[in-house]
Amino acid sequence: MNHPPIAPERLPELLRAMPKAELHMHIEGSLEPELIFAMGQRNGVALNYPSVEALRSAYVFNNLQEFLDIYHAGTTVLKTEQDFFDMANAYLARAQADSVVHAEIFFDTQTHTGHGLGAETVINGLHRACAEAPARFGITASLILCFLRHLSEEEAFECLEQALPLRDKIVGIGLASSEVGHPPEKFARVFARARELGFRLVAHAGEEAPPAYIWSALDVLKVERIDHGVQAIHDAALMQRLVAQRVPLTVCPLSNLKLCVFPTLADHNLRRMLDAGIVATVNSDDPAYFGGYINDNFTQTFAALGMTSQHAYQLARNS
Ligand code: HPA
Ligand code: ZN
Repeated sequence: MNHPPIAPERLPELLRAMPKAELHMHIEGSLEPELIFAMGQRNGVALNYPSVEALRSAYVFNNLQEFLDIYHAGTTVLKTEQDFFDMANAYLARAQADSVVHAEIFFDTQTHTGHGLGAETVINGLHRACAEAPARFGITASLILCFLRHLSEEEAFECLEQALPLRDKIVGIGLASSEVGHPPEKFARVFARARELGFRLVAHAGEEAPPAYIWSALDVLKVERIDHGVQAIHDAALMQRLVAQRVPLTVCPLSNLKLCVFPTLADHNLRRMLDAGIVATVNSDDPAYFGGYINDNFTQTFAALGMTSQHAYQLARNS
């Protein structure tokens, strides 16, 4: 379906109102400082920051690892099933305001089991928010369990095992956390097992690490979708393959900006990717940490790159 082009001054309204799916966001990355403090208080967890403002002002990162360290500190306030429900419910309310109609939400259990919680506390709380989302917000939502790649494959197997009793509440398996030095090959066996079990498969690849990580996510892990994938632009053969096989990339421009993957938004390759025929989508990754939700990602990136309504329709269709 072709839509008529619209005037540039009406673009922000189109971007705001157009129905869209969000396919790359980590629910723990939606915890706003206000909610971190509220949960810390109700759960008796002390934080290393004196105030909401002090915490927010610490959100300055030079790379992925610096972000992951502070993101991990934020998760220490999560204790009960209700906390996980409240976190997901707050995200879904915010997503509704951005005209999101479908969300595929990343979470990890390893962070929380590492803090002594049971996997079922995490999964049941998140799943209840997803199950209520159609009636509350007009949004369908599903859950993707990410293994933490800085941990071992054996620990990923354990994580998968713990999730199996709740298998019906999880649609897919993903791979997140520190990328460089933890290539997809490290998780070949556990992804093969997840595939046998019928899970849909995705993986972060080519966020900071080279295109080889994207090749092996596709060929070794056999994922259907690449999270980030922006480094693909440096490999012409890989670009051809992504286009020919219509492999979706879940791109997160404000995340890439905050983690210094691109020096400015005007340097981002989203427009070049789309114009090359890549099935790219726009997503928020960790909206509480990276300066905006999905519509902020759309409006700021469109302004920086001079993108048009035809790009907007293409991105919505891709999602
Ligand atoms: N990359 C890898 N792991 C993550 C990210 C990310 O952008 N966000 C949360 N966990
Ligand atoms: Zn991510």
